[in-house]
Amino acid sequence: MKILKGIKLFALLLCTHLSFADEGMWLPQLLGQLNEKQMMQMGMKISAADIYSINKGSLKDAIVSFGGFCTGEVISDKSLILTNHHCGFDAIQDHSTVERNYLRDGFWARNHGEEIPNQGLFVTFIVSIHDVTSQVLKTVATGISEMERQSAVDKNIAVLRQNFKREAHQDILVRPFFEGNQYFLFVTETFRDVRLVGAPPSSIGNFGKDTDNWMWPRHTGDFSLFRIYAGKDNKPAAYSTENVPYKPKKSLSVSLDGVAENDFTMVFGFPGRTMQYLPAVAVEQIIRLNDPVKIGIREKALNVIDGYMRADEATRIQYASKYASIQNAYKKWQGEILGMERTKGLEKKRARDSVFQARVNANPAWKMKWGQVLPELEALYRKFAPYSLSRDYQSEVIGRVELFSIANQLNTLIAARENNGEAGFQKALPVVKERLNMIYKDYHPEVDKQVFAALMETYVNSQEKSMLAPELMAWVDIAGMDYQKLADRIYNSTDLDNGQLILSQLEKDPGALLENHRSDKANELFLKINSAYSKEVASKLNGMQSTINTMLRTYMQAQMEVFKEKTFYPDANSTLRVTYGKVKGYEPRNAVQYAHTTYLEGVMEKYVPGDYEFDLPPKLVELYNSKDYGKYGDSGKMPVCFIGTNHTTGGNSGSPALDAHGNLVGLNFDRVWEGTMSDLNYDPSICRNIMVDIRYILFIVDKFAGASNLIAEMKLVHPKSKR
Ligand code: ARG
Ligand code: GLU
Repeated sequence: MKILKGIKLFALLLCTHLSFADEGMWLPQLLGQLNEKQMMQMGMKISAADIYSINKGSLKDAIVSFGGFCTGEVISDKSLILTNHHCGFDAIQDHSTVERNYLRDGFWARNHGEEIPNQGLFVTFIVSIHDVTSQVLKTVATGISEMERQSAVDKNIAVLRQNFKREAHQDILVRPFFEGNQYFLFVTETFRDVRLVGAPPSSIGNFGKDTDNWMWPRHTGDFSLFRIYAGKDNKPAAYSTENVPYKPKKSLSVSLDGVAENDFTMVFGFPGRTMQYLPAVAVEQIIRLNDPVKIGIREKALNVIDGYMRADEATRIQYASKYASIQNAYKKWQGEILGMERTKGLEKKRARDSVFQARVNANPAWKMKWGQVLPELEALYRKFAPYSLSRDYQSEVIGRVELFSIANQLNTLIAARENNGEAGFQKALPVVKERLNMIYKDYHPEVDKQVFAALMETYVNSQEKSMLAPELMAWVDIAGMDYQKLADRIYNSTDLDNGQLILSQLEKDPGALLENHRSDKANELFLKINSAYSKEVASKLNGMQSTINTMLRTYMQAQMEVFKEKTFYPDANSTLRVTYGKVKGYEPRNAVQYAHTTYLEGVMEKYVPGDYEFDLPPKLVELYNSKDYGKYGDSGKMPVCFIGTNHTTGGNSGSPALDAHGNLVGLNFDRVWEGTMSDLNYDPSICRNIMVDIRYILFIVDKFAGASNLIAEMKLVHPKSKR
């Protein structure tokens, strides 16, 4: 029995621990040292120095962080930027109205003059990356509290930011890796004049919408185009009509030859957050407790919003972006749970923890240092659980109510005056005006009120009463536990849901508006809810979190020591990474095989005229009927999307998929549903990233939109056929 169990453990460990070729999000400057050999074995034809170099132009010079939440890449020497439609979504929506609806109809600038500026949007290049661990940790003693450690670290980082060599227009960013066991410094360049150049209609760019989101087989042309503008000196400059297209250090060549099964691919971008090294107890909480709660709340919100969006075109535009973002994580978490179950992800984490513990126990020095790490983490997480749930309720319910976000904006104005006097107030005023304008532009009071009614019921009924504000309970009592009534009463007691009124008062007499705001009933309630949360939850939660963070850092360090046979990659943290793999289908369920590429035929199969999700522009149907694919087709068919084993996550949206030579072959935009648990536990059997085939993008730009001016900017290549 015991032996059997040992074998089973060992087998599971093999699965988790002998790192798979495809797993990992690697730091570009370490590829030469850690990955180059394997990448070449997998078919790569360029060197690590072609990907990252600080001495010559390299692929990394064509990659940008797009607005801090997505990735983009330079695809012409006039710095045309390619990213996803869903990454450009807010910009496209911002310029859309019912009469001039770029979301619905698409947008194509015919010349530079028609390209539209986007306030607040920026792109950031990485100039160079440096290991600064010793500088950051030099004055950090062992055995100090997490707070003391953080303040020592912050001081050292501040010194680095001051003194590290860079040019005047460059910035310095220092980030922790491996839970703060290592630190890297990034020299960056940020451009803030980024203009919208082109976007397909949503019926192409978001074809299949939420039904198809996170799904394979996929048929979405999820792309949009922007351009970076710079000053006459080619340096970053604030928006100006005088600015000119930026001349980039590097732009990607675009391959017309596509990819075949098992071809090498790599994805270069800014993955946001993964949690590969958490102990099993933490992973268990995520998939058994937190994910299900958040899913339940979001389902309620989505149902309400969906009803209003279907009924009215203006509401559909207003809430499109909000709906998509609520829905996105909602669906992802469900896939995460499913994938963890199917691949026995939790059991694998447990097996890793047990092997860790066994190895530590067998080594006296380790046992002294690390023998208690896991038991302590276990105890900490058990205590942490109810607080982490309350945190979820706070962000998923209170954070979702737009009325409260509005109240909050006015509160920041009040605070600015109280803390920094008239000068502080005058400084904050334009910022708050701008934010409130943005919020009200897409605000529908009735939708918000109904969301409030639906979510508040869950909020109150699912939490310990001792964690809730007594004032909230008083309101609930007066409404006789009727949440519709509660919502009516609260929304009737305030003017905050009247955008016109608030905005005009803010213009005319902000002082009087703020005076009223102090006694606004909805705001009073909001403040009480918040203070109950900080007193009953946050104060305790923050302390626990910081102890957990210390222990996680130790556990990370210990894992790297104890599992010496493994090459570790740091969890994603929105810094530039390379991941590589192969083009490959998968088996989502027993006896079901998924091919690696979809074609326009599949788009037509899904086409439902007039449907909210699966309608198509007539022009695309015509092009399909005439098979007019130009040079972009492949043996008479039009490829649309493909999948591969590249290890990606949120933030990798808009990342380029590159072939063995470093040519652009695809645009990353999603993962397959069954494999979204790769954030916690990558499993090569079902984890796949989804990319739009670059030829589909070119086809849409050229044949569908007739924007051949954009195609003419690009460098198209034929690496396979050597034509
Ligand atoms: N799932 C993709 C991502 O995580 C696409 C999201 C946008 N599309 C959507 N239908 N919500 O960002
Ligand atoms: N759509 C995601 C994003 O916006 C990428 C999908 C994923 O999470 O892998 O970054």
